[in-house]
Amino acid sequence: MSRFFDIVSKPARNLGTMNAPSTTPAALERRSRLIKLDSNENPFGPSPRVVDAMRAVLSAANFYPDDDCSQLRQGLATHHGVPVEQVLVTAGSTGMLSLLCQTLLAPGLNAVTSERSFIVYSMAVQAAGGRLVEAPMRAGEDSFDLDAILAAIDPNTRIVFLPNPNNPTGTMLDATVVGRFLAQVPGHVVVVLDEAYYEFALGFAALRRVAYPNSLEYLRQGASVVVLRTFSKAHGLAALRVGYGLGPAELLGYCARMRNTFSVSSVAQAAALEAISDSEHIQRVVENNILQSRVLAQGLSALGYRVVPTSANFLFCDLGEDAAAVAARLQDEGVAVRPLRSWGAPSCIRVMIGTPEQNHAFLQAARTIAGSGSRGSQATPAITSAV
Ligand SMILES: Cc1ncc(COP(=O)(O)O)c(C=O)c1O
Repeated sequence: MSRFFDIVSKPARNLGTMNAPSTTPAALERRSRLIKLDSNENPFGPSPRVVDAMRAVLSAANFYPDDDCSQLRQGLATHHGVPVEQVLVTAGSTGMLSLLCQTLLAPGLNAVTSERSFIVYSMAVQAAGGRLVEAPMRAGEDSFDLDAILAAIDPNTRIVFLPNPNNPTGTMLDATVVGRFLAQVPGHVVVVLDEAYYEFALGFAALRRVAYPNSLEYLRQGASVVVLRTFSKAHGLAALRVGYGLGPAELLGYCARMRNTFSVSSVAQAAALEAISDSEHIQRVVENNILQSRVLAQGLSALGYRVVPTSANFLFCDLGEDAAAVAARLQDEGVAVRPLRSWGAPSCIRVMIGTPEQNHAFLQAARTIAGSGSRGSQATPAITSAV
């Protein structure tokens, strides 16, 4: 077929090539002017305290970072009340996902998740040579079917991914169902409790008087779980690429051996260490998220769209029509949202909950499109990125 097809590894061959520039400088420039509600980031950015902490280490950029992230690891261990050996810091929580896949999977082995879950699982599993099995969701609902996930586990399964809340649906599994599920998972399977939106989920759970799982308690009780957390969302540090896993010391030890050397920069380590204790910033971000989730949900419902109650920092919204076309029209109006065809939901979008001003602008744009009666016509295709 081509010069290298026969000599690259099977996972690389299956994933295909992807090194052409995905965008142009002009498109990037246009994108920088959009109100970005398409990647579940933090609209407020990092806190001033964290920015100061980053500044303080910039002039030492000539030195390699501490490969072990010792101070940050210790800080996280203290913060969570776990031994330091149960903490592994990685380049974003997707870094931890890849390490888990490389450590636990190989050709012939598989990982299980639900359909319509976080899209990076599939890439990480395939890159490790494994196969991702997607169990069906609950019929007619937007939530996971944990019995279907259990039924999909076989002797070759090594990982189950449970994003909680899930991206892109924003739905949350409560403590009772997760506890019941974990009790039934066979011993040869590691359950990855992906809690990228933990801070937002806690806020919504308290409001609704439901119990968000205490995942660290499962770990303390010896369950085969790895809890993923990130500084990309509530802490506003997505560009720095820093996240971590909390899991059994032995398993994390194997994962640590597979890590790329110096993969977490010193700037990221300093920022994350400061961010752990910056509860004021988190509180402000979470409060805005709760208040603004109502504003957005009401605005979208008033336009006749179906909005799924969220436990995260974004809304899953069924427009009942071609969402890619509507997203392209929104982009023409200056707002980026995520159309969800790749998740098997061609009539749905995912929209991040932004600042009051951003949400106002988004709703104005949505009303303009709804009012024009020509949703989707003649629009330029939306510029999108991977997640
Ligand atoms: C469910 C889920 N897990 C993990 C991540 C990745 O976060 P990070 O930036 O830490 O790699 C995301 C980001 O969108 C996510 O939605």
